[in-house]
Amino acid sequence: MPKTYTAIESWIVTNLQLTPSNSIEQTYERLERQGDNLPLLNAPQDLTNPAHFIEEAVIWDFALHLAGCEKVLDVGCGDGWPSLRLANHFPILVAVDASARRVATAQANARRLGLKNVSIKQMSALEMDFPDSSFDGVVAASVIEQTTNPYQALREIFRVLKPGGKLRLFFEPGDNSTKGVSERVFISETEDSPGYHYVLKHSRPPWERNYLVKFPPTPEVKDAFRRLHSLIERLGSNPRQAPEIGLNFLTENQTQILGVSWYEIELFTSETMKETLEEVGFEEVDVIYSAGTFARRFFPLIQEQGLSSIQLAACCRALAEISKDISAPHISGEPIVAVRPK
Ligand SMILES: C[S@@+](CC[C@H](N)C(=O)[O-])C[C@H]1O[C@@H](n2cnc3c(N)ncnc32)[C@H](O)[C@@H]1O
Repeated sequence: MPKTYTAIESWIVTNLQLTPSNSIEQTYERLERQGDNLPLLNAPQDLTNPAHFIEEAVIWDFALHLAGCEKVLDVGCGDGWPSLRLANHFPILVAVDASARRVATAQANARRLGLKNVSIKQMSALEMDFPDSSFDGVVAASVIEQTTNPYQALREIFRVLKPGGKLRLFFEPGDNSTKGVSERVFISETEDSPGYHYVLKHSRPPWERNYLVKFPPTPEVKDAFRRLHSLIERLGSNPRQAPEIGLNFLTENQTQILGVSWYEIELFTSETMKETLEEVGFEEVDVIYSAGTFARRFFPLIQEQGLSSIQLAACCRALAEISKDISAPHISGEPIVAVRPK
């Protein structure tokens, strides 16, 4: 365990026995669902809702960057995003995720939506069970940085892409523009253990550390978690601003703690992700504006026009058409396109 950065982290490291883990086991296998507001997956699409408008633009972003592809792979699909939303755009979609729970949710979503051209498999991005050159295109959204070995995940994507095949890669960027750490608390619950998650984000260099403090599912602990849940709703999730949800909660409930696991992920900037893709062997690696960035910027103006949903959908597509050819600054955190050489 390297040096500690905050009072909560020091307390955890000093007082509890740490077990190494990873994002799948510690985070994704414990989440009932990943998002509450994914259009069509969790809620009817409403393009007057800014989140849905931005999401529709991002779907067009993937569709236009990979236009002409027959067989597309979605790596780290979570609950089925973006693969299930791309089912109308490509003949064949294959989606993989390493978490059994996420795969089961994505499969249930695909069945509910009646999608026949999408297959979803449990598989690690680090070792994919596909022959070389299997896909015309690959999409990956917020997954590469979640794996234990981003370089290996990109090598696997390179291997399964056909020569000339294209990758459109979104990632959660690290912010190395300002020095500092940020902290966040959230809770999760499985049948055998309520979980207290403490997330520490470091900016220079960018990385994120995640601790999961596990408790037994006793009535007292469940009560304490219910109170914690309402405190987080009322005060926000930053334990530095609200010690009630941070050190106070942990020390008050210390005797109940079963154990703690942790993992760390490396965060990329557009620049470091571009360099890593080039290192793997990709060519034509470009940081290109997400249509979502344009949609976010233009939504307030478009909203004022009182357009129908068909017109709003056309705006999303138009924004993706425009953004698709515009290079973004390398420090921007915008997504990347890359091509496997012929
Ligand atoms: C932030 S979520 C993104 C999910 C989805 N693409 C989205 O944008 O909603 C990251 C996903 O990566 C998956 N993941 C983490 N490590 C993985 C690996 N080695 N191979 C495949 N999937 C992995 C997790 O299970 C999780 O579903």
